[in-house]
Amino acid sequence: MLSAYSSLTQVIAHRGSSGQAPENTLASLHLAGQQGIKWVEIDVMLTSDGIPVIFHDDYLHRTTNGEGLIHKTTLEDLQQLDAGAWKGTEFQHQKVPTLIEAIEVIAHYGMGLNLELKPCEGLEEETTEASIAVLKKHWPTHLPLILSSFNYFSLTSARDLWPEIQRGYNVSAIPKAWQSRLENLGCSGLHIHQPFFDAQLVAEIKKAGYKVLAFTINNESLAIELFDQGLDAVFSDFPLQIQHAIDSQIPALEVAFT
Ligand code: G3P
Ligand code: CA
Repeated sequence: MLSAYSSLTQVIAHRGSSGQAPENTLASLHLAGQQGIKWVEIDVMLTSDGIPVIFHDDYLHRTTNGEGLIHKTTLEDLQQLDAGAWKGTEFQHQKVPTLIEAIEVIAHYGMGLNLELKPCEGLEEETTEASIAVLKKHWPTHLPLILSSFNYFSLTSARDLWPEIQRGYNVSAIPKAWQSRLENLGCSGLHIHQPFFDAQLVAEIKKAGYKVLAFTINNESLAIELFDQGLDAVFSDFPLQIQHAIDSQIPALEVAFT
């Protein structure tokens, strides 16, 4: 298995290419792959029967035609729901994918995966355990994998169950005790909410040997500005736009040195 953070690219498709396709669906993963994006981030939660599925919210209503709590819904019932129509009629009949289905698509395109452990309250360890069981069986070992979470218990159980897989610590603001938290959790990366980016603090964190990633950045000039200030990677709903902005900088640099 590669050291995942060392093979990270600057652009990560957030919930797949979720600006143009319904988030956390196979359609958003296919789109990221077809756009040539090298890394995707998706969220994993458990159904009532303990199956890891790709979904962001506790409740079903924002991104499906269902209602109620995902952790009170069986996989069979979940699979009856439409998870794409809310984004556009062309996405009708997209389903909430299982983690196994998502892995198949990501692996098809040879992308790296940042799987965010997104447990419902009380299912912190269970979500990690079930997801890791699936990943150990289905994730191709030649592709890079990062597990991340806002949740302390999900991260500690990931550390204990599969220590060799690198972990990212998701936060909003950068905690004062960032160093001891990262050390205790054995995380290699800090994933911060973009408005809390602080160039001086980020330089310190990177000097200590950690990668710093920021979510969610859909503005090209902001992404370039933050890369210039030391940010390693962005999670974006429009990863192709950000990638184009990065690529279009290269000729400008070449011109400057001729
Ligand atoms: O993993 C980075 C980012 O996705 C965390 O926030 O709410 O989009 O899952 P959220
Ligand atoms: Ca996420």
